[in-house]
Amino acid sequence: MRKRILSLSRAVCMLCLLTMTSCSAADFPAAGSGADHEAESLAAQATGFTDVPQDAWYADGVTYCQSHGIMEGTGSDIFSPETEVTRAMLATTLYRMSGSPAVSAPPDFTDTKPGTWYGDAVAWAAEIGVIAGYGNGVFGVNDPATREQAVTILWRYAGKPTGGTEEVFSDAGSISSWARSAFHWADTAGILDGMTEERRCVPQANIRRGELAAMLYRYLTGGHMEQNGQILVAYFSATGATKALAEYASDILNADLYEIVPEVPYTTDDLNYNSNSSRANQEQSDPSARPAISGGVSNMEDYDVVLLGYPIWHGQAPKVISTFLEHYKFTGKTIVPFCTSHSSGIGSSDMELHTLAPGADWRSGRQFAGGTTRETMEEWIGGLDLRTENVPEFDFETKTVTLNSGYIMPLNGLGTYSLTGETCVSSASAALERGVRLIDTAHIYGNEAEVGQAVRESGIPREEVFVITKLYPNQFANAEGAIDEALEKLDIGYIDLLLLHHPGTGDVEAYRAMERAVAAGKVRSIGLSNWYVEELEEFLPQVSIPPALVQNEIHPYYQENDVIPYIQSLGIVVQGWYPLGGRGHTAEPLEDEVISGIAAAHGKSSAQVILRWNLQKGVVVIPGSSNPDHIQENTELYDFELTEAEMARINALNRNEKHDWY
Ligand SMILES: Cc1cc2nc3c(=O)[nH]c(=O)nc-3n(C[C@H](O)[C@H](O)[C@H](O)COP(=O)(O)O)c2cc1C
Repeated sequence: MRKRILSLSRAVCMLCLLTMTSCSAADFPAAGSGADHEAESLAAQATGFTDVPQDAWYADGVTYCQSHGIMEGTGSDIFSPETEVTRAMLATTLYRMSGSPAVSAPPDFTDTKPGTWYGDAVAWAAEIGVIAGYGNGVFGVNDPATREQAVTILWRYAGKPTGGTEEVFSDAGSISSWARSAFHWADTAGILDGMTEERRCVPQANIRRGELAAMLYRYLTGGHMEQNGQILVAYFSATGATKALAEYASDILNADLYEIVPEVPYTTDDLNYNSNSSRANQEQSDPSARPAISGGVSNMEDYDVVLLGYPIWHGQAPKVISTFLEHYKFTGKTIVPFCTSHSSGIGSSDMELHTLAPGADWRSGRQFAGGTTRETMEEWIGGLDLRTENVPEFDFETKTVTLNSGYIMPLNGLGTYSLTGETCVSSASAALERGVRLIDTAHIYGNEAEVGQAVRESGIPREEVFVITKLYPNQFANAEGAIDEALEKLDIGYIDLLLLHHPGTGDVEAYRAMERAVAAGKVRSIGLSNWYVEELEEFLPQVSIPPALVQNEIHPYYQENDVIPYIQSLGIVVQGWYPLGGRGHTAEPLEDEVISGIAAAHGKSSAQVILRWNLQKGVVVIPGSSNPDHIQENTELYDFELTEAEMARINALNRNEKHDWY
C-alpha cells in the first residue's frame, strides 16, 4: 500500500511540521551516526540521500527537485531536509526552475555581489518582481524565508492565479494580509496538501528544505492531481486471443500490462476440451485447482483499477485466474473483467470470481470474440469511464472549468481560424455580445490584433474574457520575442492561455520560455496543441509547469477516444478544434442521420448536439463562425442533455478520419 502509507506519513509529518516541535532532524537517522546504517543505506538507495527516508512525506519532492536540477543535496548523499531555507536559496531554486535565464544587470543590493552562487538568481528574482528586496537596498540573502513568504513568492512566480476565497485554515487570522491570496491559491491547487486536513498553516514558521521540495514538486506536477488511479491490465491467454485484446486495452488506457503466466505452461494436449482427462478440463471441474503462477506484480498497491482478461473454459474463467485473485489484496480496487470465447457469452464466469476478491468493486464483465478490433475495444473502454480521479471537472452551472493553473475557463468559445480583418473583429464582437467569453486565436491565423480589438471594444471587464493564442513553430527559436509580439498585437494586458501550435524543433525551449512568461505575469496559463499520447509522454518530463490544456482535432469522425482519457487523467483539460468537422467538412456530420435524429429528438440543431456531445465527454469546444445566428446557436448548449445511449450512438460514428494534417 505504498500510496496510502505515503499519504499517512505525509499527514503525520505535516502535523509535526505544523507544530514545529517534535519532527526534527533527530527523527531521522543522522548521516554517519551508525544509528541504523541499514535504514540509511536503504533510504540512500531509494532517494539518493541518507537523510531522506523513502517513505518521508517529502521524499517524492526531494527526488523530483534533485532529478530536475532544481535543488541539490547539501553533501554527496545528504539533503538536509530540516535545514531552513534562506531567501537566497529560495531565489536560486526558482531561478533554476525557470531554466536559469540570462540576467540583464547584476544584483543591485548591498548584501549581494555578482559572482556569488546566488548573484544571478537574486538579480533575476528582483528583476521579474518575484522577490523584491527589503526596500532599504538590502535583499536579506541569509535571512530565513517564512512559509508565508515562500508561498507568496511561488504564487507570484505562478503569475498570481486566483484561488478560492474561503478561509480554510483555523489559523488563517495569523496569515499576513499580503499572503492571503497566495494561501488561497496554494490550497485550492493542492500545493499545501496535508495542511488543509489539519486546518492550520502556521504562516510565520520558517520553511525547511524538505517542505520546499515537496511544495515545488506539487506545484510543478499539479499537486491536486497526484498520480493515483493507475490502471493495470492483467490477463491470461493460452492461445493468444485474449492477449491481443489485453494489449489493445493497455495501449488505449496507457496502462501497465501484466500477463498471468502459469508456472507449467499449457500444452496443446492440456487444452483439449474434448478430452475429460485433459489438464484444462480436469482443473475446470476441480473447485480446489489453483495452478501456480510464475512471477507476479510487485506493485499491485499502485493500481486502483484492474482490467482482468481471460478465455472462457467451459463457461468459466480458467482456474489460474482464481490463483491470481487470491494472491493479492483487491480491497477498494475496481476490477473490470473481460473474456474471449469461441461462442459463449461471459455468462456467470465473472460473477463466480467475485468471492475470490470480495472487497473489490466489481464492474460487469464483457465478452469479445477473438480477433475483435481495437476500435471496438476503444468504444468499450471509452464507455467505462475509468480514469476519473484527476479529470478536470466541468461545471455546467457556471459553464466553466478550473484549469490546473488555478484559472477558470469557459467551456465554450469562438474559434477564429480563417477569420481575418473586419470579419474577425465583427465575429468576435458578435460572440462577446452573445455571452461568449472564450476566444481562440493564433499567431498563424494573422488575427490576434483583431481579436484584441474586439475584446477592448466590447467594454467587458478584461478579467471576464479568456483569450487563447498560440506560438507557431517558426517562432520557437525566439519564443520570448514571439510572446512579446503576441502581447503587443493583442494589446489586452496579458494572455490567458498560450499554447504551442504543434510540435516542432525547439518546442521544449519555447515551452520553457512560456513558463518564464508565466513567472513574469505576461501569461497566465500555458499548454499545447496537436500533442498526442506519444508526444506528451516524451515532452512532459522535460518541462516544469504541466500544461493546463491540450487542444486537438476532435469531431464525431475523429474522436481521439484513446487520447482524451489519457490527457484528462493527467489533470489536463482537453479542447477540441474542428468540433463540427472543420471547414469544408461540416456538411457530412451535420447531415449525419444519427446526429440529426438525436437533434430532432431534443429540438436542437445537429451542431448543438455535436457540441454537447463534446462537452459531455469533457471536451471544451471552440466552433468557428462568422455568422451571428450560428454563433448564438453555438452558445445554447446547456438546456439539454444527451442520454448514455445517444452518446454511445455518436461514439460509434468514429472513423479515425482526420480533417487536417496536424
Ligand atoms: C479447455 C477449453 C475450453 C473452452 N470452452 C469454451 C466454452 O465453453 N465456450 C466457448 O465459447 N469457447 C470455449 N473455448 C474457446 C476459448 O474460450 C476461445 O478460443 C478463447 O478466445 C481463447 O482465448 P486465448 O487465446 O486467450 O486463450 C474453450 C477453449 C479451451 C481450451
